[in-house]
Amino acid sequence: MERKTFHIVTYGCQMNVHESEKLAGIMRGLGYEPIEDERQADAIIFNTCCIRENAEERARGNIGALKKLKKEKKDLIIAVGGCMTQQKGGAERLKKTFPFIDIVFGTHNLEQFGELFLKRLNEKKSVLAVEEKEGAISEGTPKLRSSYPNAWVNIMYGCDNFCSYCIVPYVRGRERSRRAEDVVRECENLVAEGYKEITLLGQNVNSYRGEGGVSFADLLRKIDAIEGRFRLRFMTNHPKDLSEDVARAIAESEKICHAVHLPVQSGSDRILKLMNRRYTGGQYLEKLDMLKKIVPDCAVTSDVMVGFPTETEEDFEATLELVKRARFHGAFTFVYSPRRGTAAAAMEGQVPEEVSKQRIIRLIELQNAVNREISESYAGKTAEVLCEGYDREKSLFFGRDEYGKTICFDGGEETDIGNFCDVKIHAANGISLTGSKMRKGN
Ligand code: 5AD
Ligand code: SF4
Repeated sequence: MERKTFHIVTYGCQMNVHESEKLAGIMRGLGYEPIEDERQADAIIFNTCCIRENAEERARGNIGALKKLKKEKKDLIIAVGGCMTQQKGGAERLKKTFPFIDIVFGTHNLEQFGELFLKRLNEKKSVLAVEEKEGAISEGTPKLRSSYPNAWVNIMYGCDNFCSYCIVPYVRGRERSRRAEDVVRECENLVAEGYKEITLLGQNVNSYRGEGGVSFADLLRKIDAIEGRFRLRFMTNHPKDLSEDVARAIAESEKICHAVHLPVQSGSDRILKLMNRRYTGGQYLEKLDMLKKIVPDCAVTSDVMVGFPTETEEDFEATLELVKRARFHGAFTFVYSPRRGTAAAAMEGQVPEEVSKQRIIRLIELQNAVNREISESYAGKTAEVLCEGYDREKSLFFGRDEYGKTICFDGGEETDIGNFCDVKIHAANGISLTGSKMRKGN
């Protein structure tokens, strides 16, 4: 008998990417196989994001485009889950706009997806399951991982910070941590299976609290002690909670990459206060100094937002100044997007789109100049790259160094995927880096 197939479309952050691996694991448990071409699939699952309006628009566009396919293929099952469905009234809005959706499930219903899917198959009517409150953490959900040589590992869920612009605490619920022994066991298994990089995931990993009071630094040390060759990364961090203890754990470890993602959002103290970030620009820079004192070669990346309500030219210039001083190894830049139900959405003084657009262009230009300088500093050096794959278009292998810098290289072999390769970097060409794999013994 021909195997049934599924296709998952994922939007948003690494947390969602990993949750799609869980959905894939559940679907495989039901006897379905993954398939690249969604038009061939028996089930299409959307794992959505609502952090900014454009993420929602893209998902809505792609879900809407399936109306015709669904008419042609009566047995096709379309499921929509993730953050969009968990917003107040989000599930009902989706069902109303797209009545052909078969299953709507919330972020707190992911583990039940198998049952929901079977229910839809058996009862032949649409299923809606959006639990308002988070339940206990459930262990043992099967995973079909698709990011070898990296493996994502959740250490905690939810967020209690309520930054005034952010929808995450509303759609992901309260902060809760997995038990350290469960996390460590998962990591041990992954290393034994041959994964070469583990990335710990949480909205704010610095406030991890495992049963018995295990801190994030303790957890890092426990995972670092696992035998075998692998890199350890983690994300994302709130500057107010990044401790000296964590910095020391990084410095003293064998496997933790000297790379920290530390979102700053703004350089204006007034805006940071309105954002409810609970630090000033000066305190942020002090955190960076602390980190660099303990881990001198630490590469710091960041998230920066423009156009928060009431942001003036002066506020924006304070952001530029901070970005200049911080010399981030890289930064994700965003135009503020009002999110229904958050404190900032109700604030006076929303910034016109045109102004925000101009600001983000200036911000990107500044950060690009820093990126170029950092790339240039690589020229002629040798980097240790964990080979992640082969880029057919460029005919080059690619991977990242410890600092998270992507490097393309020639001279690799297929068997290098998942290996650490010494790569001699050529002169930098703008921001991107290319090099050649050195033969062992060079
Ligand atoms: N508008 C724009 N950017 C946002 N982010 C979070 N919420 C919003 C929003 N409403 C950005 C922040 C965060 C990153 C994951 O997304 O910079 O760090
Ligand atoms: Fe959102 Fe702030 Fe929590 Fe990050 S820390 S998920 S920005 S509320």
